[in-house]
Amino acid sequence: MIINPFIKRCSIAISILSANLASLGKDIAKLVRSGLTDIIHFDIMDNHYVPNLTFGPILCKSLIEYGIQSNFHIHLMTDPSERLIREFIELGVHQILLHVEEGITLKKELRIIRENGCKAGIVFNPKMSLEILTTLINEIDSVLIMSVNPGFGGQSFIENSIKRLLEARSIIDRSGKDILLGVDGGINLKNLKKIVETGVDILVIGSAIFNRSRNYVEILNVFRKKIDFYQKKLVN
Ligand code: DX5
Ligand code: ZN
Repeated sequence: MIINPFIKRCSIAISILSANLASLGKDIAKLVRSGLTDIIHFDIMDNHYVPNLTFGPILCKSLIEYGIQSNFHIHLMTDPSERLIREFIELGVHQILLHVEEGITLKKELRIIRENGCKAGIVFNPKMSLEILTTLINEIDSVLIMSVNPGFGGQSFIENSIKRLLEARSIIDRSGKDILLGVDGGINLKNLKKIVETGVDILVIGSAIFNRSRNYVEILNVFRKKIDFYQKKLVN
C-alpha cells in the first residue's frame, strides 16, 4: 500500500538483538510471513568496536538455510570490517551499513559493497556531525541515524535525534537522490508519532517488539497500524 505517491511507506526493520536466539528461526519466519515487515536488522558487534559481542555471518547463513526470505540489513559495529563485508556479500544480504568515524572516508568499503550488487548505508552515532553525508551522497543507498549509543538494545531514545533526522531528511531531499533514511534505537509506541513525522523511511525496532509480549506479530501489527495512521496524517 502506498499512502501517497510522494511519501514512501515507512518500513519496519526488525532488530533481532533482543530476540530469543533459541527460537529465532521460528519467530522470524512468523514475523516475515505476517507481511508486516520486509527487513531483518542484524547488529554485528565484536566486543572491540562496541563493548558487546553478538553474532556474525553464521547466524545469517542459518536463517537463510532455514528458509527466511527477507531483506537482511547488516549493521556492522566491528573493526576491522573488510573480511566480514565480503562474507556478508557472499551470503547475498541486501544491505550493509557502516559507521562513519572522524577521519575515515569509508569510500573503499562502500565501493566494495556496491560493486558486488549490495546496497550500502552509513550510520551516524548520536554525537557525530552529519557534515560528511554531503561528501558521501553519491556513494550510498541509505543513512541510518543512531538514536541511542550503539552497543545494546533496550536503551532510551535520545531526544536530539528528532532534530538530526530532520537535518538528514533535508540533506537527502536537497540532493534529489534515492537514498533511504533510517533511525535505530529506543523506538516505542510512545515516541513513534514524532519519529514518523520526521519523514523517516525505515524504523529499526528491537526490544519494543521482543520484550513486550510473546505475541510478536500482534505487537508488530500495532506498530504497523500506528505508523500508517501517522503517515496518513502527514499528507492530509
Ligand atoms: C543498538 C542497535 C539497535 C538496537 C535497537 O546498538 O544498533 O539496532 O538493537 O534496539 P532497541 O529497539 O531495543 O533500541
Ligand atoms: Zn542496529
